[in-house]
Amino acid sequence: MKTIKDMKTFETTTSELLIVGVRKNSNLIKGWDQFISFFGNSIEEWIREGDIQTDQKKLTKIPVKTSNSNVKRVLFVGLGDQKKLTEQLLRETFGLVGKELKKLKANSFSIWLESFTAAPIDENDISFLSAEGIGMGYYTIPNYKTTSNEPDTTIETVEFVTEADIDEVVSSFNVGKVYADSVNEARSLVNRPPNLLTAPDLADYAVQLAEQYGFEVEILNKAELEELGMGGILAVNQGSSIEPRMITLKYQAKETFENVVGLVGKGVTYDTGGYSIKPKTGMVGMKGDMGGAAAVLGAMRIVGELRPDQNVVAVIGATDNMISSDAMKPDDVITTYSGKTVEVLNSDAEGRLVLADAVTYAKQQGANYLIDVATLTGGVITALGYDKTGALSNNEAFFDAFIEASIETGEFVWGMPLTESDKKRIRKSDVADLNNSPGSDGHMIFGGGFVGEFVENTPWIHLDIAGTSDAKSAHDLGPKGGTGVMVRTLATLVERFEDLQKERNSF
Ligand code: BES
Ligand code: ZN
Ligand code: ZN
Repeated sequence: MKTIKDMKTFETTTSELLIVGVRKNSNLIKGWDQFISFFGNSIEEWIREGDIQTDQKKLTKIPVKTSNSNVKRVLFVGLGDQKKLTEQLLRETFGLVGKELKKLKANSFSIWLESFTAAPIDENDISFLSAEGIGMGYYTIPNYKTTSNEPDTTIETVEFVTEADIDEVVSSFNVGKVYADSVNEARSLVNRPPNLLTAPDLADYAVQLAEQYGFEVEILNKAELEELGMGGILAVNQGSSIEPRMITLKYQAKETFENVVGLVGKGVTYDTGGYSIKPKTGMVGMKGDMGGAAAVLGAMRIVGELRPDQNVVAVIGATDNMISSDAMKPDDVITTYSGKTVEVLNSDAEGRLVLADAVTYAKQQGANYLIDVATLTGGVITALGYDKTGALSNNEAFFDAFIEASIETGEFVWGMPLTESDKKRIRKSDVADLNNSPGSDGHMIFGGGFVGEFVENTPWIHLDIAGTSDAKSAHDLGPKGGTGVMVRTLATLVERFEDLQKERNSF
């Protein structure tokens, strides 16, 4: 999407498509009379008779004819009861608008911002939310069909009909667009077939990002991981003919690299389960087991674009989890990068082994706060379903700040308990310091809790996105497949980190 900067009126807008919000008492909107005088009294009649629907999320497209405007069609967007309007509802509604625009193959539109505002949601908020929602809704999954001859459409021009400050409105729109584009990039990584997105491919993508945004980047290959003794990621990679990679990106905003937020992603590019092999129905979809890595990379893209005043380090452990005579076996004992030993009871509990090394490395690279993101367990789906990300934390204030960011983005996160008795079970082994699979009861907590053994006293949040990273069916903000979940929340946390810290007297 591109934007043009001039403020437009109903008269001067060049786009043929105008987007207008309608609610029960639309006649109270500032400028409504002028709108009606341009596009005809019949609009009010159609609203009264229900031909233009004002209910939440209902879209109605009406052709209009007027000699003093270029607008040929108005897309009316039902907002329902004004008192119940929230930012998330607007975001989702704009997602549906994005889908409609895609269907119409529209490459330009004009939006009347005031028709969507409802205190305290102002024109700038609407501008941001429309860019975010429409951008995400417009997304389609790249495919490899040889029969498809439909050229991909994009939105070239957006115009604003508004009385608000146009510079502010445009800059809010551009921020929303960065958010949406970055989510969509993360989605495309998750959707990419596993033969076309290996660990080295993921590293190449990170290098590209680093070159584009001037991040410091380091890619460790297998020999270097061996040299360092990263026995966790190496054990998972042992059955593969494709090399693993430990990927590090650094964004230094301050003179000194301190107060650093560390983002750590699980980048398992395919999870067969290894010798604890997945059933054939459970294996399909495991190309998405790098959803945590995608979330971290998407958030880093936002950081690169918006350049917040906050130091960040991102670490991604990338490998597939395959089977061969070299593969790790249940009963193996491995030594992680931290020095802690692990008894492998289940080769399908591989993500935590990769994260163990990645978390230790992130701390070494300067992370003072850690957030790990991973499609870690089926247990989180059993506990919370497909629409909630499960979380653990060792620091209440830090977690509270994160929840504030997640409420702002509308990404639902739910904290789970990690008790001393859970920790005891993670530490129970006759032959090693830890075991990687204490049991199937409440195992989302065991998965995250295992990672927690490696963060030690660093303030930490664990996000299990196994349920939320890959949508089973289309939703308001996008199609079936990769969702790009947590991209926006991680970026929002980074952008607002110092303020959130200050509000809570540090954490
Ligand atoms: N990648 C899976 C978790 C997963 C499940 C992601 C469903 C997305 C959808 C993970 O590596 C795994 O296999 N976890 C096991 C852990 C168990 C063996 C302790 C699980 O959840 O069953
Ligand atoms: Zn697994
Ligand atoms: Zn996995």
